[in-house]
Amino acid sequence: MIKSMRRPAPFIQRRHLAAVLVAAFFTLASTAPAFAKAPITLRAAADHTVQIGTAIGLPQLDNDPTYRALAGSQFNSVTPENAMKWDAIEPQRGVYTYAAADEIVAFARAHDQQVHGHTLVWHNQLPSWLTGGTFTAAELRVILRQHIISEVSHFRGKIYAWDVVNEPFNEDGTYRQTMWFQALGPSYIADALRWAHQADPQAKLYINDYNIEGINPKSTAMYNLVKSLRAQGVPVSGVGIQGHLGTQYGFPGDIAQNIQRFTHRLGVQVGITELDVRSILPVDATKLATQTDYYNRVVEACLADARCVNITVWGFTDKYSWVPSVFAGQGAADIYDENYVAKPAYFAILRDLLAARGH
Ligand code: G3I
Repeated sequence: MIKSMRRPAPFIQRRHLAAVLVAAFFTLASTAPAFAKAPITLRAAADHTVQIGTAIGLPQLDNDPTYRALAGSQFNSVTPENAMKWDAIEPQRGVYTYAAADEIVAFARAHDQQVHGHTLVWHNQLPSWLTGGTFTAAELRVILRQHIISEVSHFRGKIYAWDVVNEPFNEDGTYRQTMWFQALGPSYIADALRWAHQADPQAKLYINDYNIEGINPKSTAMYNLVKSLRAQGVPVSGVGIQGHLGTQYGFPGDIAQNIQRFTHRLGVQVGITELDVRSILPVDATKLATQTDYYNRVVEACLADARCVNITVWGFTDKYSWVPSVFAGQGAADIYDENYVAKPAYFAILRDLLAARGH
């Protein structure tokens, strides 16, 4: 497998070379638009050893040429930020609207990018016909099955991996009381994975959650769930560690150990599926340094494990970040600022990708 080309040992020895390359890049980038004279991109630095991805939002892909150019040139994987969610795909029962998601898939194919599908079963961004309906448990199970089979079949062969189930746990490791859990119990997770597998047997199937970077009750609940599903022969192939971090919080220090318990002990893939590092505004030099450090440590932890196959940032520019609308007074979470100037975190990732290949 291509991933086996990673060479952790030379990583340390040849770091100074990577530092020189990055310094040269930084010099160029600081005197011109960040992307205009860049001698290397993130995806070129990764050189297929890992998927380096971004969430992609519409309408910015259509309306912002700089966004579009960077999305296509810097990344070899994309995740639709909203276009594959239930409210976008099935806004009325049985009526499927794939145009926006199809556009992102077409963009990815035109730019030789993998697509990470997001997401089939979640408790957010559900259409009102579903949340406002009065369905029996049996009806909800049929609705869920039809949605998954329809959507996964539509994209069959075009999606590398699906976030089949998103955010099933509370912080204490108990199951989140979603409409799915309340009606169907925890079996909705195994059912969803089996239906997705039936619709696209080649796609990798993930369970995805936040605050599972380090070893804690929530990540241990994920570990126990995946272990149990594997023991039952349920087709789960990966765990998505979202990676929504903040400089005001400590770093989840045992992230490498956590990744390895999934990859080594359970034999599943891991993806860093939604990485960003927000700050309480305004940002200062200390917060910027912490942000760089956090990005660097997550990326290094993934690159150290050949079965950590994807590192995706949840948007690459502060211009369109989801953060300020959810966390008032916070932001600046991405690797480019709102004017598309690459931040130190960008160069840290670039350096890590180069170093993992022995440069
Ligand atoms: O599409 C409507 C638009 O028609 C309307 O005019 C506008 C008015 O507010 O809202 C638009 O929908 C918004 C949608 O993003 C598309 O822009 C929603 O209000 C807004 O809530 C939604 O936010 C998304 C959020 O998930 C919803 O939960 C963010 O963009 C998206 O980045 C965020 O992503 C999630 C992952 O899916 C799962 N993990 C956490 C992550 C961050 O919250």
